[in-house]
Amino acid sequence: MTESKFEPDDNDGNANAGMRKGLTSYGDRGFSLFLRKAFIKGAGYTDAALDRPVIGIASTGSAYNPCHGNAPQLIEAVKRGVMLAGGLPMEFPTISVHESFAAPTSMYLRNLMAMDTEEMVRAQPMDAVVLIGGCDKTVPAQLMGAASAGLPAIQLITGSMLTGSHRGERVGACTDCRRYWARYRAGEIDAEETADVNNQLVASVGTCSVMGTASTMACIAEALGMTVPGGASPPAVTADRIRIAEQTGAQAVRIARERLTIDKVLTPAAFENAMRVLLAIGGSTNGIVHLAAIAGRMGLEIDLHALDRMGRETPVLLDLKPSGQHYMEDFHAAGGMATLLRELRPLLHLDALTVTGRTLGEEIEAAGPGFAQDVVRPVAQPIYPQGGIAVLWGNLAPGGAIIKQSAADPVLMEHEGRAVVFENAEDLARRIDSDELDVTPHDVLVLKNIGPKGAPGMPEAGYLPIPRKLARAGVKDMVRISDGRMSGTAFGTIVLHVTPESAIGGPLAYVRSGDRIRLSVANREISLLVTDEELARRAKESPVVEPTAERGYRKLFLQTVTQADKGVDFDFLRAPDTTGKVPR
Ligand code: FES
Ligand code: MG
Repeated sequence: MTESKFEPDDNDGNANAGMRKGLTSYGDRGFSLFLRKAFIKGAGYTDAALDRPVIGIASTGSAYNPCHGNAPQLIEAVKRGVMLAGGLPMEFPTISVHESFAAPTSMYLRNLMAMDTEEMVRAQPMDAVVLIGGCDKTVPAQLMGAASAGLPAIQLITGSMLTGSHRGERVGACTDCRRYWARYRAGEIDAEETADVNNQLVASVGTCSVMGTASTMACIAEALGMTVPGGASPPAVTADRIRIAEQTGAQAVRIARERLTIDKVLTPAAFENAMRVLLAIGGSTNGIVHLAAIAGRMGLEIDLHALDRMGRETPVLLDLKPSGQHYMEDFHAAGGMATLLRELRPLLHLDALTVTGRTLGEEIEAAGPGFAQDVVRPVAQPIYPQGGIAVLWGNLAPGGAIIKQSAADPVLMEHEGRAVVFENAEDLARRIDSDELDVTPHDVLVLKNIGPKGAPGMPEAGYLPIPRKLARAGVKDMVRISDGRMSGTAFGTIVLHVTPESAIGGPLAYVRSGDRIRLSVANREISLLVTDEELARRAKESPVVEPTAERGYRKLFLQTVTQADKGVDFDFLRAPDTTGKVPR
């Protein structure tokens, strides 16, 4: 044991602070380190092992999270990479959140996971952290937490699941889950076939195989410069994914030594690159909410007007479901993000720094010239001429609303119709399948109270089902509007994230069945054709009572959660001064 290990405590000044990092004092710093070393030696470490950069590995494996089902193999490979590069790997657990197992909705827990990640990264001795995430909320939560913790950090994606095969048809979660369920609701397939396809939709561990939120956030993480090159696309069970894990471990040691802190990577230029990629991949609408939350941790606000302008000049190039045909494993075979970034190059900030210590432009260059493939289109032949996501405004959404135009029915994107209103999710569940429901295919379905505070947690209930009697008659799409979110794997003419939400008295709260609503994606308009005076009268007649809770996390959530345009983060977790806007 060398004398220098005992002092001084080196909180941030030393690239190799290792076990001395963040040392708390029991009134005697030397004694504090003495104690810490005694306990870590209880795990069998030698002095030689402890005298090196400490790399924390945030482990999010959980029996409740099949999307992270390869976490044990990833952790083993990360540790190998860390040790090959001369670091000491220290695995630690954080919360893991899976889409299907988190009630009332995974989004309700994203900020809790971000807080857990931030505080455990900050509290424990480490010089850099590897964040292992994949399922929808885990990657944004980890990036939010790591952004606030401020250490050198690197993201490792768990990777997508494999596709399955159902009676000769290739299937994958969860665009095909929705398609088959819609066919079952319409009476086209029976319960037996539904059970059969249920075995095939998730063919292995890993994240959803289409361009849902998980794949979107994987691509965004790479575009932000937060993964090693090629880190977004390898499927969970492949050797490529394991190699990415090993590289990630090794790179974590380098960023620890070079003190490449996360603020050097998460710059305005990086966020602009991420937005371009979000638009060009036909990414999940959830990507906007998560990007707003991550940016908010860095003191940046997403400018929805500018994002919409950016969308008009960014075509959708990636031919993946739900906007296109392919699956993530095809994107990987087509070269993954390098192929996409090469096409997008004229629209990117090539000088943005990545966790490799090189710029995005240098990484694109290093990936080589590319090859013939049919998953990433050239800019001249896009899947969709504009970005996948358009931002709408109007008296129904003064703070903006979102539509995924690349997954909507072109016929319905210019539409005026009669509102059929559901007051909340329970009301919807009670009436949507009733033969008595007064509804036609030309009506506009409106669902209130599924925003950040309304449900709470802004669930993915914005994908309102087609009323059963219309589904049986062959209706596949209708205009649907809510203050909630929708799964990135879903499709339809669906207006989401209406801001401000109805639960806090946004105009959506005062829509009544029979009102007329106009949607014009061309004009970026979502309007309630009711006068201001009438809306004011309704607000006075039946004022909104905001939801509250007596205690616990729910109370914290309801008191501090922000609206969709601020990322649905807690207000006290955002950077204290938000000075910049992205895109600039
Ligand atoms: Fe985990 Fe889709 S449920 S990625
Ligand atoms: Mg999802």
